[in-house]
Amino acid sequence: MSIDNPMVRFDNVQKSYDGKTLVVKNLDVDIAQGEFLTMLGPSGSGKTTSLMMLAGFEPATHGEIYLNGKPINNVPPNKRGIGMVFQNYALFPHMTVAENLAFPLKVRNVSASEADEKVKRILELVELPEFGSRRPAQLSGGQQQRVAVARALVFEPQLVLMDEPLGALDKQLREQMQYEIKHIHENLGVTVVYVTHDQSEALTMSDRIAVFEDGVIQQLSSPNELYEKPQNSFVAQFIGENNRINGQIDSIEGSTCTVQLDSGERVTADKVVEGDVGTRTTLSIRPERIELDPVAGSVPVTIPGKIEELIYLGDHIRVRMSVAGTSEFIVKVRNRTGRKNLEAGQQTTVGWSPEDCRALDEISA
Ligand SMILES: Nc1ncnc2c1ncn2[C@@H]1O[C@H](COP(=O)(O)OP(=O)(O)OP(=O)(O)O)[C@@H](O)[C@H]1O
Ligand SMILES: [Mg+2]
Repeated sequence: MSIDNPMVRFDNVQKSYDGKTLVVKNLDVDIAQGEFLTMLGPSGSGKTTSLMMLAGFEPATHGEIYLNGKPINNVPPNKRGIGMVFQNYALFPHMTVAENLAFPLKVRNVSASEADEKVKRILELVELPEFGSRRPAQLSGGQQQRVAVARALVFEPQLVLMDEPLGALDKQLREQMQYEIKHIHENLGVTVVYVTHDQSEALTMSDRIAVFEDGVIQQLSSPNELYEKPQNSFVAQFIGENNRINGQIDSIEGSTCTVQLDSGERVTADKVVEGDVGTRTTLSIRPERIELDPVAGSVPVTIPGKIEELIYLGDHIRVRMSVAGTSEFIVKVRNRTGRKNLEAGQQTTVGWSPEDCRALDEISA
């Protein structure tokens, strides 16, 4: 994924801690100036390690990292001009908020009067103008987190790295801070590399998301593209919910294919998986793209199904069905006036458009 004049470039970067296993394999990523890029992936997939190499706290085993076109493998962390926010925001407990914020300026030899000015400004930015003289223990978790964000920004770094910065906060505060960080990013135009394993956080905040699995980026795209056009079954499953049906490619026509389901039906799908006729595939269909009991002829693909369970969720009804050999087929039905009466046990049909059905690499059921 190459960008003209990227701010950050990982060029074929690898990392091994023990000299045997690679926890980051061939990382090739360009990050544009001003971009908000999120590394998303399960625990142990190499997100923090990638961030630590960029920050300079861990050496890369192989490859090179560039900042503004210059290799930085031999540049120490404090000379990289990078701000950092960690999960356990680690403010100095014996210092006041203002002293915590002045610290990164002091180590950079900023004069006391200039530091005062910058601390004041950053406290306003994170909406804590009155809190300079308090100690961290006298703040709520969310306020401490804002101070940690302020401390990473106060010396006006070109790049800020955030590793699960909201992990310790409850859901409501977390969502509020997501918007605040996003606004700070927009206001300052600073480049942010953000790590989370929370997919909704990644979708809310990011310009682009890199989905990690086992030290490899499975897909690097905008939130929209990641959800609409997952390139493989791992991404389809990791981002949002999807129904999976296994089968075999029966015929290929350009970018679409016909798939013979293991349960016998034949359906048309977007062909994403590589391979010829006979290739095994897992079809991926989002629950909100499925029509339950569609009017005859209104959608090109219909197959029979049976309603197993209805879960009422207010704005929609979650319908669990037996379809094509699985009893975990989920359909989301909008709860609108005049919708059909649904009951467990009903024999019915489900339908969808071929463009909402992606033939991906097979994963065993
Ligand atoms: N200092 C270290 N020494 C040895 N192995 C390490 C070290 N740090 C991380 N690892 C290993 O490297 C792999 C990647 O770890 P990393 O911390 O990058 O994952 P992560 O994606 O950030 O996971 P999480 O979501 O749990 O924070 C893991 O298998 C981990 O055990
Ligand atoms: Mg981590």
